[in-house]
Amino acid sequence: VKTTVSVIKADIGSFPGHSRTHPKILEVAARRLKEAEGSILIDSYVTHCGDDLELIMTHTKGEDNEEIHKLAWDIFMEGAELAKEMKLYGAGQDLLGDAFSGNVKGMGPGVAEMEFEERGSDPVLIFMADKTEPGAWNYFLYKMFADPFSTSGLVIDPSLHEGFTFEVHDVIEKRKILFNTPEESYSLLAYIGAPSRYVIKYVWKRDGTIGASTSTQRLNLMAGRYVGKDDPVMIVRAQSGFPAVGEVIDPFRTPILVAGWMRGSHHGPFMPVGVCDANCTQFDGPPRVICLGFQVCNGKLIGPADMFDDPAFNRVRDQCCELSSALRAHGPFEPHRLSLEEMEYTTLPGVEKKFKDRWENLPE
Ligand code: 13P
Ligand code: 13P
Ligand code: MG
Ligand code: MG
Ligand code: MG
Ligand code: MG
Repeated sequence: VKTTVSVIKADIGSFPGHSRTHPKILEVAARRLKEAEGSILIDSYVTHCGDDLELIMTHTKGEDNEEIHKLAWDIFMEGAELAKEMKLYGAGQDLLGDAFSGNVKGMGPGVAEMEFEERGSDPVLIFMADKTEPGAWNYFLYKMFADPFSTSGLVIDPSLHEGFTFEVHDVIEKRKILFNTPEESYSLLAYIGAPSRYVIKYVWKRDGTIGASTSTQRLNLMAGRYVGKDDPVMIVRAQSGFPAVGEVIDPFRTPILVAGWMRGSHHGPFMPVGVCDANCTQFDGPPRVICLGFQVCNGKLIGPADMFDDPAFNRVRDQCCELSSALRAHGPFEPHRLSLEEMEYTTLPGVEKKFKDRWENLPE
């Protein structure tokens, strides 16, 4: 029997402002999932990254299962009620619909799931981010599964020599495409280097074994108005035919810039932190990522290990602070502020609307 790992998340209210989830909400979510263990779930773990509530669940029902999605949805609804009672900020923020109809996709929450036959030993790493968008994983997935200067196993381990298949989604045109690496690496990069539009959804071994799965939901495109960023999650399997655990997390040593941060409208450095630091503060950020490591054993989650709670990541955190200062110095100027195309999904169009009648045409 196969095991499914489902990570379903939503921002249902936070305090103060967009900085962190309230402990009472974490408590309710953990209790609800615990109650479902033994019936629809095998195991569960609840955490948060910034203002996003993260539900980690294992079961045998496969991806897109109605019972699992309904469980998550009901928890988000109950948590949102609690958030309303405490007048938390953005209570129910990511819940776009009110009637559940079989699947949380398209309703606001982010979803990453994968179903697999457990190996003799199955290390699984779960990444959760706040103040950025799903395409933020592109760079890291490429480094893990396709860059031999990052993952040495691609060169020295024969079980990785065949390379991997990447499924890329175009979140604007709603279409998908497959690329095989290493032979199509340049073509893959041509797309995923534009992470606001092209997002890696899955990575497989050439024989179809699942290696990585991400959430690709784009909240503002669904809502048609600004409702915060679609802070993403990702599941990655490691070892024995996949990159080693250390090869999966090493790419986060590089301080790359991602879209999100204040008002979902700025580029900022992506900072890997331990769970105790998974709170957004400075300019509502900077964008953060946590990683919990588990061994999956007959569906049980052995763990977690807080992977970025480690002085080995102090240097990248310092570099992120340096970059943060350099970008913040731009104030409202690009490239700190996102490009106009991306700003269409923020509150800026409201300003343009205000001045639309004041513009005068110049002579030809
Ligand atoms: P150990 O000798 O500590 O098990 O390390 C093995 C390894 O492959 C580390 O990448
Ligand atoms: P969230 O998507 O994390 O709620 O962020 C929204 C925001 O506006 C932060 O400044
Ligand atoms: Mg929020
Ligand atoms: Mg447990
Ligand atoms: Mg958030
Ligand atoms: Mg958000």
